[in-house]
Amino acid sequence: MDKAPLLEIRGLEKSFPGVQALQGVDFTVGRGEIHALMGENGAGKSTLIKVLTGVYNRDGGESRFEGRSIRPRSPREAEEAGISTVYQEVNLIPHLSVAENICLGRQTTRLGFVRWHAIRKRAEKALHRLDLTLDTSRQLSSCSVAIQQMVALARALDTSAKLLILDEPTSSLDEREVAELFKVMRKLRGEGMSIVFVTHFLGQVYQVCDRITVLRSGKHVGEYATAQLPRMELIARMIGKDVTEIEKMSRSRDRQPAPLSAQPFLQVTNYGRKGSVCPMDLAVRPGEVVALAGLLGSGRTETAKLIFGADQADSGEIDIEGRPVTIRSPRDALRYRIAFTTEDRKVDGIIPNLSVRENIVLALQASRGPWARMRRPEQNALAGRFIKALDIKTPGPEQPIKNLSGGNQQKVLLGRWLATEPKLFILDEPTRGIDVGAKAEIEKLIDALRKQGMAILFISSELEEVVRASQRVVVLRDGQKIGELTGDEISEQTIMRTIAAPTTDSEAVHPAQL
Ligand SMILES: Nc1ncnc2c1ncn2[C@@H]1O[C@H](COP(=O)(O)OP(=O)(O)OP(=O)(O)O)[C@@H](O)[C@H]1O
Ligand SMILES: [Mg+2]
Repeated sequence: MDKAPLLEIRGLEKSFPGVQALQGVDFTVGRGEIHALMGENGAGKSTLIKVLTGVYNRDGGESRFEGRSIRPRSPREAEEAGISTVYQEVNLIPHLSVAENICLGRQTTRLGFVRWHAIRKRAEKALHRLDLTLDTSRQLSSCSVAIQQMVALARALDTSAKLLILDEPTSSLDEREVAELFKVMRKLRGEGMSIVFVTHFLGQVYQVCDRITVLRSGKHVGEYATAQLPRMELIARMIGKDVTEIEKMSRSRDRQPAPLSAQPFLQVTNYGRKGSVCPMDLAVRPGEVVALAGLLGSGRTETAKLIFGADQADSGEIDIEGRPVTIRSPRDALRYRIAFTTEDRKVDGIIPNLSVRENIVLALQASRGPWARMRRPEQNALAGRFIKALDIKTPGPEQPIKNLSGGNQQKVLLGRWLATEPKLFILDEPTRGIDVGAKAEIEKLIDALRKQGMAILFISSELEEVVRASQRVVVLRDGQKIGELTGDEISEQTIMRTIAAPTTDSEAVHPAQL
Protein backbone atom coordinates (compact mmCIF):
# COMPACT_ATOMS: atom_id res chain seq x y z
CA MET A 1 0.00 0.00 0.00
CA ASP A 2 1.06 3.53 -0.70
CA LYS A 3 2.19 5.09 2.55
CA ALA A 4 2.99 8.54 1.16
CA PRO A 5 0.82 11.29 2.66
CA LEU A 6 -2.09 12.49 0.58
CA LEU A 7 -0.96 16.11 0.61
CA GLU A 8 2.51 17.48 1.22
CA ILE A 9 3.13 21.20 1.11
CA ARG A 10 6.70 22.44 1.49
CA GLY A 11 7.98 25.98 1.91
CA LEU A 12 4.88 27.77 0.74
CA GLU A 13 5.33 31.52 0.31
CA LYS A 14 2.74 34.20 -0.31
CA SER A 15 2.79 37.90 0.25
CA PHE A 16 0.33 40.67 -0.32
CA PRO A 17 1.29 44.34 -0.44
CA GLY A 18 2.52 45.10 3.07
CA VAL A 19 1.88 41.60 4.46
CA GLN A 20 3.81 38.38 4.23
CA ALA A 21 0.91 36.01 4.76
CA LEU A 22 2.85 32.73 4.40
CA GLN A 23 6.53 32.31 5.12
CA GLY A 24 7.90 28.94 4.16
CA VAL A 25 4.90 26.99 5.43
CA ASP A 26 4.90 23.19 5.53
CA PHE A 27 1.67 21.27 5.81
CA THR A 28 1.08 17.53 5.58
CA VAL A 29 -2.22 15.71 5.46
CA GLY A 30 -2.35 11.94 5.77
CA ARG A 31 -4.84 9.64 4.10
CA GLY A 32 -8.20 9.19 5.78
CA GLU A 33 -7.62 11.70 8.56
CA ILE A 34 -9.35 14.82 9.79
CA HIS A 35 -6.69 17.44 10.18
CA ALA A 36 -7.27 20.73 11.99
CA LEU A 37 -5.53 23.84 10.70
CA MET A 38 -5.34 26.22 13.65
CA GLY A 39 -4.10 29.73 14.28
CA GLU A 40 -5.11 33.20 15.35
CA ASN A 41 -6.98 35.58 13.09
CA GLY A 42 -4.63 36.53 10.31
CA ALA A 43 -2.30 33.57 10.90
CA GLY A 44 -2.62 32.58 7.25
CA LYS A 45 -5.06 29.65 7.30
CA SER A 46 -7.38 30.88 4.57
CA THR A 47 -4.44 32.08 2.50
CA LEU A 48 -2.81 28.65 2.69
CA ILE A 49 -6.03 27.08 1.48
CA LYS A 50 -6.46 29.60 -1.31
CA VAL A 51 -2.90 29.19 -2.54
CA LEU A 52 -3.26 25.43 -2.49
CA THR A 53 -6.51 25.55 -4.45
CA GLY A 54 -5.44 28.10 -7.01
CA VAL A 55 -7.47 31.10 -5.86
CA TYR A 56 -4.15 32.92 -5.37
CA ASN A 57 -0.85 32.50 -7.12
CA ARG A 58 1.95 31.31 -4.90
CA ASP A 59 5.25 33.15 -4.64
CA GLY A 60 7.18 30.00 -3.82
CA GLY A 61 7.02 26.48 -2.48
CA GLU A 62 5.73 23.19 -3.65
CA SER A 63 2.67 21.01 -3.15
CA ARG A 64 2.45 17.32 -3.85
CA PHE A 65 -0.86 15.53 -3.97
CA GLU A 66 -0.89 11.74 -4.12
CA GLY A 67 2.83 11.89 -4.72
CA ARG A 68 2.59 14.16 -7.75
CA SER A 69 3.51 17.81 -7.92
CA ILE A 70 0.41 19.96 -8.45
CA ARG A 71 -0.16 23.62 -9.07
CA PRO A 72 -3.81 24.31 -9.79
CA ARG A 73 -4.53 27.69 -11.34
CA SER A 74 -8.17 27.80 -10.23
CA PRO A 75 -10.47 26.08 -7.73
CA ARG A 76 -11.90 24.27 -10.72
CA GLU A 77 -8.52 22.75 -11.52
CA ALA A 78 -8.03 21.85 -7.86
CA GLU A 79 -11.38 20.07 -7.92
CA GLU A 80 -10.37 18.15 -10.97
CA ALA A 81 -7.25 17.03 -9.14
CA GLY A 82 -9.44 15.84 -6.24
CA ILE A 83 -9.36 18.79 -3.80
CA SER A 84 -12.74 20.27 -2.94
CA THR A 85 -13.17 23.31 -0.79
CA VAL A 86 -15.84 25.15 1.13
CA TYR A 87 -14.30 28.59 1.54
CA GLN A 88 -14.74 30.81 4.59
CA GLU A 89 -16.84 33.19 2.55
CA VAL A 90 -19.44 30.82 1.19
CA ASN A 91 -20.01 32.02 -2.32
CA LEU A 92 -23.41 30.74 -3.24
CA ILE A 93 -26.01 32.56 -5.23
CA PRO A 94 -29.09 33.29 -3.11
CA HIS A 95 -31.65 33.68 -5.88
CA LEU A 96 -30.82 30.40 -7.58
CA SER A 97 -32.24 27.05 -6.56
CA VAL A 98 -30.51 24.56 -4.30
CA ALA A 99 -29.88 22.28 -7.28
CA GLU A 100 -28.35 25.04 -9.36
CA ASN A 101 -26.11 26.08 -6.50
CA ILE A 102 -24.79 22.57 -6.11
CA CYS A 103 -24.10 22.09 -9.79
CA LEU A 104 -23.18 25.67 -10.68
CA GLY A 105 -20.44 25.94 -13.27
CA ARG A 106 -20.47 22.22 -13.83
CA GLN A 107 -23.87 22.13 -15.43
CA THR A 108 -24.44 19.41 -17.86
CA THR A 109 -25.64 20.94 -21.06
CA ARG A 110 -26.59 19.25 -24.23
CA LEU A 111 -26.73 21.09 -27.52
CA GLY A 112 -26.60 24.27 -25.48
CA PHE A 113 -29.61 23.39 -23.34
CA VAL A 114 -29.36 23.00 -19.60
CA ARG A 115 -30.44 19.54 -18.58
CA TRP A 116 -32.59 20.34 -15.57
CA HIS A 117 -33.49 16.81 -14.82
CA ALA A 118 -29.86 15.72 -14.73
CA ILE A 119 -28.97 18.66 -12.50
CA ARG A 120 -31.69 17.83 -10.02
CA LYS A 121 -30.67 14.20 -9.87
CA ARG A 122 -27.06 15.11 -9.38
CA ALA A 123 -27.91 17.56 -6.60
CA GLU A 124 -30.09 15.01 -4.86
CA LYS A 125 -27.29 12.48 -4.99
CA ALA A 126 -24.85 14.93 -3.43
CA LEU A 127 -27.31 15.81 -0.66
CA HIS A 128 -28.00 12.16 -0.07
CA ARG A 129 -24.36 11.64 0.77
CA LEU A 130 -24.93 14.10 3.60
CA ASP A 131 -28.05 12.23 4.70
CA LEU A 132 -30.10 15.24 3.71
CA THR A 133 -33.34 15.25 1.82
CA LEU A 134 -34.32 18.64 0.59
CA ASP A 135 -36.49 20.04 -2.15
CA THR A 136 -33.72 20.97 -4.58
CA SER A 137 -35.93 23.34 -6.53
CA ARG A 138 -36.20 25.62 -3.50
CA GLN A 139 -34.60 29.01 -3.80
CA LEU A 140 -31.43 29.03 -1.73
CA SER A 141 -32.25 32.29 0.07
CA SER A 142 -35.33 30.65 1.57
CA CYS A 143 -33.13 28.12 3.38
CA SER A 144 -31.59 28.66 6.82
CA VAL A 145 -27.91 29.50 7.10
CA ALA A 146 -27.26 25.96 8.32
CA ILE A 147 -28.89 24.46 5.26
CA GLN A 148 -27.01 26.86 3.01
CA GLN A 149 -23.83 25.65 4.62
CA MET A 150 -24.83 22.07 3.87
CA VAL A 151 -25.55 23.06 0.28
CA ALA A 152 -22.03 24.48 0.02
CA LEU A 153 -20.73 21.20 1.37
CA ALA A 154 -22.86 19.19 -1.03
CA ARG A 155 -21.47 21.31 -3.82
CA ALA A 156 -17.95 20.49 -2.71
CA LEU A 157 -18.82 16.80 -2.58
CA ASP A 158 -20.36 16.78 -6.00
CA THR A 159 -17.01 15.95 -7.53
CA SER A 160 -14.98 12.89 -6.72
CA ALA A 161 -12.94 14.56 -4.01
CA LYS A 162 -10.12 12.87 -2.13
CA LEU A 163 -9.42 15.89 0.03
CA LEU A 164 -12.16 18.08 1.43
CA ILE A 165 -11.25 21.46 2.90
CA LEU A 166 -13.68 23.19 5.25
CA ASP A 167 -12.76 26.75 6.28
CA GLU A 168 -14.82 27.60 9.39
CA PRO A 169 -17.92 25.69 8.34
CA THR A 170 -19.43 25.62 11.82
CA SER A 171 -19.39 29.30 12.70
CA SER A 172 -23.12 29.67 12.07
CA LEU A 173 -24.37 26.24 13.07
CA ASP A 174 -26.03 25.33 16.35
CA GLU A 175 -24.96 22.38 18.44
CA ARG A 176 -27.25 19.89 16.78
CA GLU A 177 -26.23 20.99 13.32
CA VAL A 178 -22.57 20.76 14.26
CA ALA A 179 -23.20 17.21 15.47
CA GLU A 180 -24.80 16.42 12.09
CA LEU A 181 -21.84 17.86 10.25
CA PHE A 182 -19.41 15.84 12.36
CA LYS A 183 -21.35 12.70 11.60
CA VAL A 184 -20.95 13.42 7.92
CA MET A 185 -17.25 14.19 8.35
CA ARG A 186 -16.64 10.93 10.17
CA LYS A 187 -18.56 9.02 7.54
CA LEU A 188 -16.47 10.57 4.77
CA ARG A 189 -13.31 9.78 6.70
CA GLY A 190 -14.55 6.21 6.95
CA GLU A 191 -14.80 6.18 3.17
CA GLY A 192 -11.12 7.08 3.01
CA MET A 193 -11.46 10.81 2.40
CA SER A 194 -9.11 13.25 4.13
CA ILE A 195 -10.52 16.45 5.58
CA VAL A 196 -8.85 19.74 6.50
CA PHE A 197 -10.92 21.52 9.10
CA VAL A 198 -10.50 25.14 10.15
CA THR A 199 -12.32 26.37 13.23
CA HIS A 200 -11.93 28.66 16.21
CA PHE A 201 -13.98 26.37 18.45
CA LEU A 202 -11.36 24.40 20.33
CA GLY A 203 -13.86 21.90 21.67
CA GLN A 204 -14.74 20.89 18.14
CA VAL A 205 -11.13 20.19 17.30
CA TYR A 206 -10.91 17.73 20.16
CA GLN A 207 -14.18 16.10 19.17
CA VAL A 208 -13.42 15.36 15.58
CA CYS A 209 -9.80 15.88 14.54
CA ASP A 210 -6.98 13.34 14.46
CA ARG A 211 -4.12 15.75 13.96
CA ILE A 212 -3.49 19.46 14.36
CA THR A 213 -1.23 21.85 12.49
CA VAL A 214 -0.68 25.25 14.07
CA LEU A 215 0.25 28.40 12.15
CA ARG A 216 1.30 31.67 13.70
CA SER A 217 1.95 34.90 11.80
CA GLY A 218 2.31 33.04 8.52
CA LYS A 219 4.73 30.48 9.90
CA HIS A 220 4.42 26.79 10.64
CA VAL A 221 4.61 26.25 14.41
CA GLY A 222 4.13 22.49 14.61
CA GLU A 223 2.12 19.41 13.88
CA TYR A 224 0.63 17.33 16.68
CA ALA A 225 -1.56 14.32 17.36
CA THR A 226 -4.72 15.75 18.93
CA ALA A 227 -4.60 13.28 21.82
CA GLN A 228 -1.11 14.47 22.73
CA LEU A 229 -1.75 18.20 22.76
CA PRO A 230 -3.71 19.46 25.77
CA ARG A 231 -6.03 22.38 25.13
CA MET A 232 -3.95 24.92 27.01
CA GLU A 233 -0.86 23.85 25.09
CA LEU A 234 -2.73 24.34 21.84
CA ILE A 235 -3.73 27.86 22.83
CA ALA A 236 -0.17 28.56 23.90
CA ARG A 237 1.17 27.41 20.49
CA MET A 238 -1.40 29.51 18.67
CA ILE A 239 -0.79 32.77 20.45
CA GLY A 240 2.87 32.26 21.23
CA LYS A 241 2.55 32.67 24.98
CA ASP A 242 3.18 30.19 27.73
CA VAL A 243 0.47 28.37 29.59
CA THR A 244 0.70 30.32 32.87
CA GLU A 245 0.21 33.62 31.07
CA ILE A 246 -2.95 32.27 29.47
CA GLU A 247 -4.39 31.07 32.73
CA LYS A 248 -4.04 34.62 34.01
CA MET A 249 -6.06 35.86 31.03
CA SER A 250 -9.07 33.71 31.83
CA ARG A 251 -9.91 35.31 35.15
CA SER A 252 -13.49 35.19 36.33
CA ARG A 253 -15.76 38.17 36.01
CA ASP A 254 -18.06 39.65 38.58
CA ARG A 255 -21.68 39.02 37.96
CA GLN A 256 -23.35 41.63 40.09
CA PRO A 257 -26.49 42.85 38.37
CA ALA A 258 -26.93 46.61 38.29
CA PRO A 259 -29.03 47.68 41.28
CA LEU A 260 -32.63 47.00 40.40
CA SER A 261 -33.64 50.53 41.27
CA ALA A 262 -31.50 51.79 38.42
CA GLN A 263 -33.66 53.02 35.61
CA PRO A 264 -33.36 50.80 32.56
CA PHE A 265 -31.84 52.44 29.53
CA LEU A 266 -34.15 50.35 27.43
CA GLN A 267 -37.46 48.89 28.44
CA VAL A 268 -39.69 47.10 25.98
CA THR A 269 -43.14 46.00 27.01
CA ASN A 270 -45.23 43.52 25.12
CA TYR A 271 -42.98 44.19 22.16
CA GLY A 272 -43.39 41.83 19.25
CA ARG A 273 -43.92 41.18 15.59
CA LYS A 274 -46.31 38.68 14.16
CA GLY A 275 -44.65 35.59 12.75
CA SER A 276 -41.24 36.26 14.28
CA VAL A 277 -41.24 37.52 17.89
CA CYS A 278 -44.01 36.88 20.42
CA PRO A 279 -44.78 39.97 22.51
CA MET A 280 -42.22 40.15 25.30
CA ASP A 281 -40.90 42.35 28.09
CA LEU A 282 -37.23 43.08 28.26
CA ALA A 283 -35.11 45.65 30.09
CA VAL A 284 -31.44 46.54 29.85
CA ARG A 285 -29.91 48.80 32.48
CA PRO A 286 -26.79 50.88 32.20
CA GLY A 287 -23.84 48.86 33.43
CA GLU A 288 -25.49 45.56 32.68
CA VAL A 289 -24.89 42.85 30.10
CA VAL A 290 -28.14 41.09 29.23
CA ALA A 291 -27.70 38.00 27.09
CA LEU A 292 -30.28 36.56 24.75
CA ALA A 293 -29.82 32.80 24.85
CA GLY A 294 -31.52 30.11 22.86
CA LEU A 295 -30.90 27.77 19.99
CA LEU A 296 -30.37 28.93 16.46
CA GLY A 297 -33.72 30.08 15.13
CA SER A 298 -35.09 30.82 18.61
CA GLY A 299 -35.61 34.48 17.74
CA ARG A 300 -32.50 36.08 19.23
CA THR A 301 -31.49 38.00 16.13
CA GLU A 302 -35.12 38.81 15.33
CA THR A 303 -35.54 40.35 18.79
CA ALA A 304 -32.38 42.41 18.33
CA LYS A 305 -33.51 43.62 14.92
CA LEU A 306 -36.86 44.67 16.33
CA ILE A 307 -35.24 46.76 19.03
CA PHE A 308 -32.88 48.33 16.51
CA GLY A 309 -35.73 49.17 14.14
CA ALA A 310 -34.34 46.99 11.36
CA ASP A 311 -37.68 45.17 11.58
CA GLN A 312 -40.94 46.84 12.55
CA ALA A 313 -42.72 45.86 15.75
CA ASP A 314 -46.48 45.51 15.47
CA SER A 315 -47.27 45.42 19.15
CA GLY A 316 -46.06 46.90 22.40
CA GLU A 317 -44.13 49.90 23.62
CA ILE A 318 -40.54 50.90 23.92
CA ASP A 319 -39.09 53.31 26.49
CA ILE A 320 -35.65 54.84 26.41
CA GLU A 321 -34.44 56.25 29.73
CA GLY A 322 -38.01 56.21 31.00
CA ARG A 323 -39.60 58.02 28.08
CA PRO A 324 -41.82 56.36 25.47
CA VAL A 325 -40.32 56.55 21.99
CA THR A 326 -40.87 55.02 18.59
CA ILE A 327 -38.08 53.30 16.72
CA ARG A 328 -39.02 52.63 13.15
CA SER A 329 -35.63 52.47 11.55
CA PRO A 330 -31.96 51.99 12.43
CA ARG A 331 -31.62 55.74 11.95
CA ASP A 332 -34.08 56.29 14.82
CA ALA A 333 -32.11 53.80 16.90
CA LEU A 334 -28.86 55.61 16.19
CA ARG A 335 -30.44 58.85 17.34
CA TYR A 336 -31.14 57.21 20.71
CA ARG A 337 -27.52 56.04 20.79
CA ILE A 338 -28.26 52.40 20.10
CA ALA A 339 -25.68 50.44 18.11
CA PHE A 340 -25.96 47.02 16.55
CA THR A 341 -23.33 44.69 15.12
CA THR A 342 -24.98 42.03 13.03
CA GLU A 343 -24.15 38.35 13.03
CA ASP A 344 -23.72 38.25 9.31
CA ARG A 345 -20.81 40.50 8.49
CA LYS A 346 -20.82 39.57 4.84
CA VAL A 347 -24.42 40.55 4.16
CA ASP A 348 -25.16 43.57 6.32
CA GLY A 349 -21.81 44.31 7.78
CA ILE A 350 -18.67 45.27 5.99
CA ILE A 351 -18.43 47.13 2.73
CA PRO A 352 -15.74 45.04 1.06
CA ASN A 353 -14.28 47.59 -1.32
CA LEU A 354 -13.98 50.39 1.19
CA SER A 355 -10.89 50.79 3.31
CA VAL A 356 -10.59 49.94 6.96
CA ARG A 357 -10.79 53.67 7.77
CA GLU A 358 -13.94 54.18 5.68
CA ASN A 359 -15.58 51.15 7.26
CA ILE A 360 -14.81 52.43 10.74
CA VAL A 361 -16.14 55.97 10.25
CA LEU A 362 -19.32 54.85 8.51
CA ALA A 363 -21.75 54.67 11.43
CA LEU A 364 -20.54 57.81 13.13
CA GLN A 365 -20.77 59.69 9.86
CA ALA A 366 -24.30 58.37 9.32
CA SER A 367 -25.37 59.46 12.79
CA ARG A 368 -24.15 63.01 12.12
CA GLY A 369 -26.02 63.23 8.84
CA PRO A 370 -24.82 64.00 5.34
CA TRP A 371 -24.17 67.68 5.98
CA ALA A 372 -21.55 67.22 8.62
CA ARG A 373 -18.90 65.37 6.71
CA MET A 374 -16.08 64.23 8.91
CA ARG A 375 -12.80 65.82 7.94
CA ARG A 376 -9.98 63.55 6.95
CA PRO A 377 -7.75 64.18 9.98
CA GLU A 378 -10.63 63.28 12.28
CA GLN A 379 -11.27 60.11 10.26
CA ASN A 380 -7.60 59.18 10.41
CA ALA A 381 -7.47 59.70 14.15
CA LEU A 382 -10.59 57.65 14.72
CA ALA A 383 -9.39 54.78 12.54
CA GLY A 384 -5.97 54.85 14.17
CA ARG A 385 -7.52 54.77 17.62
CA PHE A 386 -9.63 51.66 16.96
CA ILE A 387 -6.96 49.80 15.01
CA LYS A 388 -4.82 50.19 18.10
CA ALA A 389 -7.49 49.60 20.74
CA LEU A 390 -8.83 46.46 19.09
CA ASP A 391 -5.45 45.30 17.81
CA ILE A 392 -6.71 45.05 14.24
CA LYS A 393 -4.13 43.34 12.04
CA THR A 394 -3.84 45.43 8.91
CA PRO A 395 -0.91 46.99 7.09
CA GLY A 396 -2.68 50.32 7.48
CA PRO A 397 -5.99 52.19 7.59
CA GLU A 398 -6.19 52.43 3.81
CA GLN A 399 -6.20 48.67 3.23
CA PRO A 400 -9.49 47.50 1.62
CA ILE A 401 -11.32 45.62 4.35
CA LYS A 402 -11.93 42.63 2.10
CA ASN A 403 -8.20 41.90 2.34
CA LEU A 404 -8.32 41.47 6.11
CA SER A 405 -8.73 38.06 7.67
CA GLY A 406 -12.26 37.18 8.78
CA GLY A 407 -11.69 37.85 12.46
CA ASN A 408 -10.08 41.20 11.82
CA GLN A 409 -13.03 42.28 9.69
CA GLN A 410 -15.22 41.54 12.69
CA LYS A 411 -13.07 43.79 14.86
CA VAL A 412 -13.44 46.63 12.36
CA LEU A 413 -17.21 46.30 12.71
CA LEU A 414 -16.97 46.55 16.47
CA GLY A 415 -14.83 49.65 16.05
CA ARG A 416 -17.37 51.16 13.68
CA TRP A 417 -20.09 51.03 16.30
CA LEU A 418 -17.94 51.88 19.28
CA ALA A 419 -17.04 55.07 17.45
CA THR A 420 -20.65 56.22 17.81
CA GLU A 421 -20.26 56.00 21.61
CA PRO A 422 -23.49 54.05 22.05
CA LYS A 423 -25.45 53.91 25.29
CA LEU A 424 -26.93 50.56 24.32
CA PHE A 425 -24.77 48.20 22.31
CA ILE A 426 -26.47 45.20 20.73
CA LEU A 427 -23.84 42.61 19.89
CA ASP A 428 -25.03 39.70 17.78
CA GLU A 429 -22.38 36.96 17.82
CA PRO A 430 -19.52 39.44 18.20
CA THR A 431 -16.92 36.73 18.63
CA ARG A 432 -17.94 34.54 15.73
CA GLY A 433 -14.89 33.58 13.74
CA ILE A 434 -12.63 35.25 16.25
CA ASP A 435 -9.61 33.44 17.69
CA VAL A 436 -9.20 32.61 21.38
CA GLY A 437 -6.83 35.46 22.10
CA ALA A 438 -9.03 38.07 20.44
CA LYS A 439 -12.12 36.50 22.03
CA ALA A 440 -10.67 37.08 25.46
CA GLU A 441 -9.86 40.64 24.36
CA ILE A 442 -13.42 41.24 23.17
CA GLU A 443 -14.89 39.80 26.36
CA LYS A 444 -12.62 42.10 28.32
CA LEU A 445 -13.73 44.99 26.19
CA ILE A 446 -17.41 44.19 26.79
CA ASP A 447 -16.76 44.03 30.50
CA ALA A 448 -14.93 47.35 30.44
CA LEU A 449 -17.72 49.03 28.46
CA ARG A 450 -20.27 47.75 30.91
CA LYS A 451 -18.28 49.08 33.85
CA GLN A 452 -18.23 52.47 32.15
CA GLY A 453 -22.02 52.34 32.26
CA MET A 454 -22.91 51.08 28.83
CA ALA A 455 -26.01 48.89 28.53
CA ILE A 456 -25.24 45.79 26.50
CA LEU A 457 -27.51 43.27 24.83
CA PHE A 458 -25.40 40.26 23.96
CA ILE A 459 -26.15 37.32 21.70
CA SER A 460 -23.88 34.33 21.50
CA SER A 461 -24.33 30.67 20.64
CA GLU A 462 -21.48 29.80 22.95
CA LEU A 463 -23.02 29.24 26.33
CA GLU A 464 -19.66 29.44 28.08
CA GLU A 465 -19.34 32.94 26.78
CA VAL A 466 -22.86 33.90 27.81
CA VAL A 467 -22.19 32.65 31.31
CA ARG A 468 -18.91 34.56 31.58
CA ALA A 469 -20.15 37.83 30.15
CA SER A 470 -23.67 38.45 31.40
CA GLN A 471 -25.46 39.54 34.54
CA ARG A 472 -28.87 38.59 33.21
CA VAL A 473 -29.92 35.99 30.66
CA VAL A 474 -33.18 36.06 28.76
CA VAL A 475 -33.95 32.65 27.35
CA LEU A 476 -35.84 32.37 24.08
CA ARG A 477 -37.44 29.53 22.25
CA ASP A 478 -39.47 29.64 19.06
CA GLY A 479 -39.58 33.42 19.13
CA GLN A 480 -40.85 33.50 22.67
CA LYS A 481 -39.30 34.52 25.96
CA ILE A 482 -39.48 31.45 28.16
CA GLY A 483 -37.35 32.44 31.11
CA GLU A 484 -34.99 34.90 32.71
CA LEU A 485 -31.97 34.14 34.86
CA THR A 486 -29.96 36.55 36.97
CA GLY A 487 -26.73 36.58 38.96
CA ASP A 488 -25.80 33.23 40.46
CA GLU A 489 -28.63 31.42 38.71
CA ILE A 490 -26.67 31.78 35.50
CA SER A 491 -24.88 28.64 34.44
CA GLU A 492 -24.68 26.58 31.28
CA GLN A 493 -26.80 23.99 32.97
CA THR A 494 -29.64 26.29 34.01
CA ILE A 495 -29.73 27.86 30.58
CA MET A 496 -29.92 24.46 28.90
CA ARG A 497 -32.57 23.32 31.34
CA THR A 498 -34.65 26.39 30.67
CA ILE A 499 -34.39 25.87 26.92
CA ALA A 500 -35.34 22.22 27.26
CA ALA A 501 -38.15 22.70 29.79
CA PRO A 502 -41.64 21.90 28.60
CA THR A 503 -43.89 24.95 28.66
CA THR A 504 -47.56 24.49 29.25
CA ASP A 505 -48.60 28.09 28.77
CA SER A 506 -47.06 31.33 27.65
CA GLU A 507 -45.85 32.21 31.15
CA ALA A 508 -42.13 32.53 31.62
CA VAL A 509 -40.65 29.63 33.54
CA HIS A 510 -38.42 30.17 36.52
CA PRO A 511 -35.57 27.67 36.80
CA ALA A 512 -36.49 26.95 40.41
CA GLN A 513 -39.73 25.45 39.13
CA LEU A 514 -38.01 22.97 36.86
N1 LIG B 1 -6.38 39.44 -0.71
C1 LIG B 1 -5.57 39.92 0.25
N2 LIG B 1 -4.92 41.09 0.08
C2 LIG B 1 -4.11 41.57 1.04
N3 LIG B 1 -3.88 40.96 2.22
C3 LIG B 1 -4.51 39.79 2.44
C4 LIG B 1 -5.37 39.21 1.47
N4 LIG B 1 -5.85 38.04 1.98
C5 LIG B 1 -5.29 37.91 3.20
N5 LIG B 1 -4.47 38.95 3.49
C6 LIG B 1 -3.68 39.13 4.71
O1 LIG B 1 -2.95 37.94 4.93
C7 LIG B 1 -2.91 37.60 6.32
C8 LIG B 1 -3.46 36.21 6.53
O2 LIG B 1 -4.86 36.22 6.32
P1 LIG B 1 -5.78 34.93 6.32
O3 LIG B 1 -7.10 35.34 5.77
O4 LIG B 1 -5.05 33.82 5.66
O5 LIG B 1 -5.90 34.63 7.89
P2 LIG B 1 -6.73 33.48 8.65
O6 LIG B 1 -5.71 32.68 9.37
O7 LIG B 1 -7.60 32.78 7.70
O8 LIG B 1 -7.54 34.33 9.72
P3 LIG B 1 -9.10 34.21 10.24
O9 LIG B 1 -9.07 33.24 11.37
O10 LIG B 1 -9.38 35.59 10.75
O11 LIG B 1 -9.96 33.82 9.10
C9 LIG B 1 -3.70 38.69 7.04
O12 LIG B 1 -2.79 39.62 7.55
C10 LIG B 1 -4.54 39.30 5.94
O13 LIG B 1 -4.78 40.65 6.22
MG1 LIG C 1 -9.65 32.66 7.48
